[in-house]
Amino acid sequence: MSQESTHRIGGELMSEEGPDGLITRAFLRGTGLSALTVRQRPVIGIANTWSELNPCNAGLRELARHVKRGITAAGGLALEFPTISLAEAFTRPSSMYLRNLLAMDTEEMITASPIDGVVLLGGCDKTLPAQLMGAASAGKPALALAAGPRPLSTWEGRPMAVENLWPLIDQRRTGHLSDSDWSRLEGCLSGGVGTCNVMGTAVTMAVVAEVLGMALPGTALLPADSAQRAAAAEHTGRAIVARARAHITPAAVMTPGAFDNAFRAVCAVGGSTNAVIHLQAIAGRLGLCLDPARLQKLSDSTPLLADVKPSGRRFLHDFEADGGVPALMGRLREIADMTAMSGDDRSWDETATDPAAIAGCLSTLTHPVGQARSLVMLRGSLAPDGALLKQSAADPGLCRHVGRAVVFDGVDDLRARIDHPDLEVDATSVLVLRGTGPIGGPGMPEVGHLPIPRKLLEQGVTDMVRISDARMSGTATGTVVLHVAPEAAAGGPLALVRDGDFIELDTARNTLDLLVDSAELERRSLEGGPNQQGPQPNDGTEPSSAFPRARGYARLFAEHVTQADRGCDFDFLQAVR
Ligand code: FES
Repeated sequence: MSQESTHRIGGELMSEEGPDGLITRAFLRGTGLSALTVRQRPVIGIANTWSELNPCNAGLRELARHVKRGITAAGGLALEFPTISLAEAFTRPSSMYLRNLLAMDTEEMITASPIDGVVLLGGCDKTLPAQLMGAASAGKPALALAAGPRPLSTWEGRPMAVENLWPLIDQRRTGHLSDSDWSRLEGCLSGGVGTCNVMGTAVTMAVVAEVLGMALPGTALLPADSAQRAAAAEHTGRAIVARARAHITPAAVMTPGAFDNAFRAVCAVGGSTNAVIHLQAIAGRLGLCLDPARLQKLSDSTPLLADVKPSGRRFLHDFEADGGVPALMGRLREIADMTAMSGDDRSWDETATDPAAIAGCLSTLTHPVGQARSLVMLRGSLAPDGALLKQSAADPGLCRHVGRAVVFDGVDDLRARIDHPDLEVDATSVLVLRGTGPIGGPGMPEVGHLPIPRKLLEQGVTDMVRISDARMSGTATGTVVLHVAPEAAAGGPLALVRDGDFIELDTARNTLDLLVDSAELERRSLEGGPNQQGPQPNDGTEPSSAFPRARGYARLFAEHVTQADRGCDFDFLQAVR
């Protein structure tokens, strides 16, 4: 089969009268499409992350059917295509390790295919961020639709969301959950297909997509298996046809003001810390940089407005019933950039709910559910390029704290020693985990929520200062400092910490410091040794523990992944500034 032209084009290929157009239409007609249908414009791709290896996204095959109905009704031609899919629970060493691969897959398929626009069907944590990154780079009009939260299950007669798992795991560790309860839990944890059913990473990113103007207003929180989500899919199909006809690109939608709004939304809903990394990565694709000082200003002036789990008491369906994201934007009206575009191609000023009509679990700016500064950007001698703490999930008594370090080199070391009776640790200690960053993990696994040592759990200790170059689940809580940059494996000071060193955390001053003088740190740096170095990026000549096979994607990752402060994207995928 020959191609007369190798130029990348959009749906105009379908109406091209030379050999390329004829061949393209002919193959589509071979699938049963009529001569009329194959000339429909715009041509809309549906990038689908449905996969049996990703139960959170299991509903997307059905949603695609409804999206197609909307595209067809609006006069477009719908062509669905698969991309890889990433499940949090299934993908090793971490789903974050493969996020950029999914972003590349999405970008190249959008760019290479004869389509004028695309609907992105994602759900589980990394899928929507990767799709937004890819779509931003591809530059064709795009709209996302998330899988939606799965139904609640029940445990001991009470509604159970995924966040209830963590204390049950601690009960199991301390011998307070029987074998029969443990196996019963397996059948109770997940009540159906869809994403995790609290404001964890997946739903936070669905909210982010909606606030960014990359998903239709009012769609983020609709239940996965609901008639409302099916209808939203049809509306999304109609809306992408309009967006493609108007040539509204992701860069025109995701403006600096839109990113400010998205970050404010994360603060206002007590959203996942992972959203900060993903927002950096998406912005980087458009040549934008989310300056930590600016993010802190936004966090300082955005209180917690949504009383929703895990930061609040109520469930996602309550938030949805109270108006969802359009109501949230109504509440944020006085501090948000309301000129930014919503997913229906109008401004948020036109789309947001009238504040007078908002009630329930969304509070006002003057009487918020929780204080501002839910996210604190840290910097200091232990994190020269930054770190992050979700203050709204931390013990206030630990937000200014000096303690002695107890250091773990990687997950295996942590698992081997954390519950050992001889571990020298008390409630004032600072638990440090390293070798778990973008390079060291690899892929920043969600292990930053270090477990409280069993002997302290048994004493009733429920929180400690924990520090790592890893990430944590959006459903986890505690005084957990994450995303330390540079990571230990990239030569950050985290690699130089030793057991017994004093570390100071002060969220009021945005600081995280290793209280060891610079001469001693210099001496340790020169001395090297296994306690001071995490896994190193691999240049292809020497195997390392993080990258034992320095070929293919592992090699690409090791050589090009950026640190957390740049979104962990590959350096060559960021827009040239
Ligand atoms: Fe897939 Fe939580 S594990 S959304």
